[in-house]
Amino acid sequence: MIRATSAGKTDKVIVEFVLARQPEQRMHIAVVGSGYVGLVAGACFADLGHEVILVDNDEQKLAALKAGQVPIHENFLPELLGRHRGSRLEFSGDLQKAVRASEAIFIAVGTPPTEQGEADLSYVESVARSISGAINGYKVVIEKSTVPVYTSDWIRKIILRNAAPPDSFDVASNPEFLREGSAVTDFLYPDRIVVGADSERCASLLREIYAPLSDGSYYQRPDAIPKPDRARIPPPLIVTSAKSAELIKHASNAFLAMKISFINAVASICESVGANVQQVVQGIGSDSRIGPRFLNPGIGYGGSCFPKDLSAFRAVARECGYEFRLLDEVMRINEEQRHRFLRKVRSALWTLRGKRIGILGLAFKGGTDDIRESPAVLLAQSLLQEGCQIAAYDPAAMGRAREILNSNVDFVNSAYEAAAGADALLILTEWEEFGGLDLKRLYKELKYPIVIDGRNLYDPEIMAQRGFTYYSVGRQASAPETQNAAAATPARKLKR
Ligand SMILES: NC(=O)c1ccc[n+]([C@@H]2O[C@H](COP(=O)([O-])OP(=O)(O)OC[C@H]3O[C@@H](n4cnc5c(N)ncnc54)[C@H](O)[C@@H]3O)[C@@H](O)[C@H]2O)c1
Repeated sequence: MIRATSAGKTDKVIVEFVLARQPEQRMHIAVVGSGYVGLVAGACFADLGHEVILVDNDEQKLAALKAGQVPIHENFLPELLGRHRGSRLEFSGDLQKAVRASEAIFIAVGTPPTEQGEADLSYVESVARSISGAINGYKVVIEKSTVPVYTSDWIRKIILRNAAPPDSFDVASNPEFLREGSAVTDFLYPDRIVVGADSERCASLLREIYAPLSDGSYYQRPDAIPKPDRARIPPPLIVTSAKSAELIKHASNAFLAMKISFINAVASICESVGANVQQVVQGIGSDSRIGPRFLNPGIGYGGSCFPKDLSAFRAVARECGYEFRLLDEVMRINEEQRHRFLRKVRSALWTLRGKRIGILGLAFKGGTDDIRESPAVLLAQSLLQEGCQIAAYDPAAMGRAREILNSNVDFVNSAYEAAAGADALLILTEWEEFGGLDLKRLYKELKYPIVIDGRNLYDPEIMAQRGFTYYSVGRQASAPETQNAAAATPARKLKR
């Protein structure tokens, strides 16, 4: 057993694999913010055996949660909420009461971008202020939201300013690395748990909370949520200073976004020279120093994290006197990727006004109903502006998309309905079901058998054999033999 003897104020990073621990200790935990992160974290903490109060100030959301509804689409979440609602998991609008009843308070509210690209920390600040008025014994206040470095210092100052005694609380950073679409399994089978704590007392409390994961006992339970492929158990728990933990989260997201933009830039070169980006990915990704994950060429990243976290990290760096221009380029390539795709659609259809386009996928990625900063939605908006008619289908995100896209979009109930009578079909989200469509049926439904795949879900050769003119990202276009010359025109020549 490797264990830390001290944490925080030193520069030491302590990696722990705790293989034995004291008998189960049940913590009282409040999670403030019941969105994608808070709701999943709360449900998972309850599954680890803790008593959890999930707090939110959105009354509608609270009412829905109390009534047994599950406001977001995530595998295993309905199951966990069902298991613990009314026993170890409670929902409340009363933040101060929840704080009084808890030893650990996780802040999981939104940190959206300001117009200048910085993180808007006003929700975090308002929660910190409320917490300060309810401190009735030692508490650990934990940042779960993604926040810039120094936020833990600010939270501490705010709580002190509101007259809480200095030794009555600690502030820690425990960044969350879950991905929407696999949030529950990511939480319970993480690659690592990062605990940024500047005192041993506070680090110990967080260790206790995560002990069922880091000592592996959770994974031995017959009712544990099943282990996904590739999970390494037990996960290491990494103890750092709070500042380092804050930076770990921003730097991780920036690095992942950089991988995506990198392969998208390589994909553009592949299109120009007639190479196949999937083969290039296989070659690059087999290098264990690089690895194949996050080398998926496509229409760029979106979602509620990467775009805002990159801007926020860029802003923090500037504030600290470092011009992190690499991040500007990552963001520029990402935006350009969408424009390139739009040019590809134009090239395939010549003119867009009045064309009927089938769209598969609106969520920013497969497995979620989240459409925040979704490249699919941004593309749909551009196509509408160009005068297209759109029939769109997404297995989970249509409710949310309806609130944003105007009434010119027909929201339909299947991929085949989206294809019906369309001049072209666009694949914009990598939902699993979109990779296994009945191609014969799709061919029959489309007015013209043109598929423009922003997620590289199909093999160009097979698509051509099945009669489609098929465009994807970083690979040559393909078409049935009779049309091959036109369809295979390199994207470079089709550029406007
Ligand atoms: N979504 C992800 O995949 C993900 C992953 C890792 C980290 N994060 C980070 O976690 C944080 C939360 O993200 P999210 O996607 O869960 O956001 P979200 O918008 O889905 O949820 C935030 C919740 O906080 C509630 N809230 C706001 N102010 C409140 C207050 N004063 N009191 C109580 N509740 C309040 C909102 O009503 C909402 O339900 C962000 O900083 C985000 O960057 C998100």
